[in-house]
Amino acid sequence: MATICRLDVLRVRNLSGVQIRPADRVNIIFGNNGSGKTSLLEAIYMLGLGRSFRSSKIESVIDTKSDDCVIFAELDAGVSIGLNKSRKQGHLLKLLGERQKSWVDTARHLPLQIINSDSFSLLEGSPKIRRKFLDWGVFHVEHEFALAWRKANKCLAQRNLLLKQKRLDKTQLEAWDTEFSQLGTQIDEQRKVYMETFLPILNDALPRLIEIPDLKITYERGWDADATLAQALAVSLDRDIRYGATQTGPHRADLSIKIGRNAAADVLSRGQQKLLVSAMKIAQSQLLYKLTEEKGVYLIDDLPSELDNENRVLICKLLEELGCQIFITCVDADEIENCWSTDISTGKFHVEHGKIVTL
Ligand SMILES: Nc1ncnc2c1ncn2[C@@H]1O[C@H](COP(=O)(O)OP(=O)(O)OP(=O)(O)O)[C@@H](O)[C@H]1O
Ligand SMILES: [Mg+2]
Repeated sequence: MATICRLDVLRVRNLSGVQIRPADRVNIIFGNNGSGKTSLLEAIYMLGLGRSFRSSKIESVIDTKSDDCVIFAELDAGVSIGLNKSRKQGHLLKLLGERQKSWVDTARHLPLQIINSDSFSLLEGSPKIRRKFLDWGVFHVEHEFALAWRKANKCLAQRNLLLKQKRLDKTQLEAWDTEFSQLGTQIDEQRKVYMETFLPILNDALPRLIEIPDLKITYERGWDADATLAQALAVSLDRDIRYGATQTGPHRADLSIKIGRNAAADVLSRGQQKLLVSAMKIAQSQLLYKLTEEKGVYLIDDLPSELDNENRVLICKLLEELGCQIFITCVDADEIENCWSTDISTGKFHVEHGKIVTL
């Protein structure tokens, strides 16, 4: 079970030097606009995933007056994760004191879910966002998935390079196609199996938050349902050459989220969308727990926006049942405090101008 017992954040946005000892269940992070609440969640997120959820440029996360930032967390069972991001020297990530080349092992120790105002993009954003959602789940339950995914991306990059050349090297193409087909088929198989286990869990969780008649979520693998990937690549070759990029394969997979014939994002209100997305994320964590007994950590930014009090309580109840550690922000602690059972271990942290006081 991943629980953060100690968190140090230095020079991340306006957080100059923060040291907290979070509660193992609910942590309420409250304070005025611009005080640094989202930045605290961002720091945890960067530690677990290597990137920010609100900026593609990591530079913008570092305090403008500094050249680097440091984030350190101690998890239960003695696991420590440390990250130093520097404007000049890139990053240094350490897990249990050992330098890490990738985020794969760190991410496994700290399965993070986030619910924030960007969560709508799962419904209305690009397929890439839904693939990320899906792959988060597969990654945490299928250990070989990350390697297959990385190798497939390498193949894809090589294949795309070949497609851009004036004269196509057919022998090389064949070699990359063989490997890409095999890896792509494995990725598809694992995604498909994951979705088959995920959907029944979502069907149980969703009505606890909202009834959505005729909701249909379908996994689309990225190529013709009746063809093998090798066949689909052969059929698509002329088009691929025209585009100079591979148009078919696991990198084109998507989740179709529809109500009747319409995209869910076109039909549901903002609040309803937030409930659906929250149910999808919570169902992923329920599945993770069922398969691995891992509970993960939830980052919830500004839950009160778009949700009335009744729905806030419903989401908090589901989250509480998960038994996971939660970091939840709000302007006024009163908005969130009454959403939890009285006997749950709760930490309250007041953020003021980049400083945090534990209450
Ligand atoms: N690179 C940076 N260096 C220093 N300060 C920054 C940097 N980037 C953003 N800030 C400032 O950090 C502060 C904290 O921002 P943050 O988004 O964490 O606030 P918040 O408490 O979540 O506010 P809100 O309630 O409005 O969501 C803001 O005043 C912002 O202008
Ligand atoms: Mg914020």
